[in-house]
Amino acid sequence: MNYQENIKRIKEKFEKIGIDIKKAFNPVLEENEILAFEKKHQITLPEDYRLFLMEIGNGINRKDEGGWQLHNAALNISQLDDTLFKNAKPHLPFPFTIDNPDRNSFLDPNPNGYINNGFNDIMYDGYLAVSDQGCCLYVALVVSGKAYGQIWHFGEHWVFECVGNGHPEEWNEGKRPCSFLEWFEGWFDSSVKYQKKWFKNNLIFRKLEIHELEKYHEIRLECLKNFPENFGTLYEEEIQHQNFKFDKIIPQNLPNDFLMGAFLNNDFLVGICGITQEKRTKTQHICEITQMYVRHTHKGLGIGKSLLKTTTELVFQNPQIEQIILAVMENNQTAKKLYENLGFEEYGKLKNYFKHNNEYQTQVFMVLQK
Ligand SMILES: CC(C)(COP(=O)(O)OP(=O)(O)OC[C@H]1O[C@@H](n2cnc3c(N)ncnc32)[C@H](O)[C@@H]1OP(=O)(O)O)[C@@H](O)C(=O)NCCC(=O)NCCS
Repeated sequence: MNYQENIKRIKEKFEKIGIDIKKAFNPVLEENEILAFEKKHQITLPEDYRLFLMEIGNGINRKDEGGWQLHNAALNISQLDDTLFKNAKPHLPFPFTIDNPDRNSFLDPNPNGYINNGFNDIMYDGYLAVSDQGCCLYVALVVSGKAYGQIWHFGEHWVFECVGNGHPEEWNEGKRPCSFLEWFEGWFDSSVKYQKKWFKNNLIFRKLEIHELEKYHEIRLECLKNFPENFGTLYEEEIQHQNFKFDKIIPQNLPNDFLMGAFLNNDFLVGICGITQEKRTKTQHICEITQMYVRHTHKGLGIGKSLLKTTTELVFQNPQIEQIILAVMENNQTAKKLYENLGFEEYGKLKNYFKHNNEYQTQVFMVLQK
């Protein structure tokens, strides 16, 4: 099995949703650190798990969870030591296999899945608890015996079917048996899916109010600091301004000039999208989108798309408005793709529109017709 392919794909998936693996995980392990762990427990780690520790990281960095839900997905190896139950003997053969009918003899006949006392003698054999899912539920990686390399689920008093998709919502849907990397990728995919669902249910879109200027300043500065190449205004320029662009606009409370915000729990501002109407009589049917930003910790979750869609739909409710225009750097493919997805079309571009530190950038102009 070529696990490098799995690793590459997992890395690409993290990148696609804007998560920096170096921040999200603890530093990778050197081979000698893994060898020392193996020696201590008299085991050989399955190849894919070893690769994970060496190429992705030594467990999730719980301090950098950001806006995602993988916090229980992978422990670091010192936590493995902690969570190996008191009598753990990972080097002894794991007693179950997926086809082994003996496995059932440990199950209590009653339907709650609890197992009888005989299990207690062997329930610590042959595996490492690679993920602590809470509620005394562990994801176990088998490191000894016939099921070597497989993922199983363990509770304090019971053993669970071996399943290939890690997320609790989809336990019965995965491939069985599965390896560590298959489990991890399944867990990741489901986390992103359920995360999107969660955000959808907990996000609200509304205009920023006059008492929220501080939130606006904070997110705007974060945006310019993190993405200087995507905007015409420099962070250093903005921070010196007495007033930011929407400071004057928000209090005016005009129907077509506002800053739309994406709020979590109606409080935490995770994204902004500014809109202003042209003021001259002949161009009053046009609005312009500016200052579009979704916090980098919350990227790739569909927030930008919903924020922009809500904003454009609201603006087009006004019969006077017929076009919405915006400008985007040509190399900002993420934003450009988002605009195109929502129906914006390129109507022109200007080469070398921006020049900074002797580097030029092309600006693309786009329009959405009613
Ligand atoms: C551009 C930005 C607002 C998108 O917000 P987002 O919440 O991450 O985007 P979404 O999750 O809603 O994704 C919307 C679409 O963008 C595209 N997209 C998102 N992330 C992408 C990525 N990493 N690579 C390519 N396209 C991507 C996809 O087309 C996606 O649509 P799909 O899910 O139907 O495939 C956000 O990335 C951002 O703030 N970037 C930095 C600031 C910036 O560049 N602002 C725009 C200035 S013009």
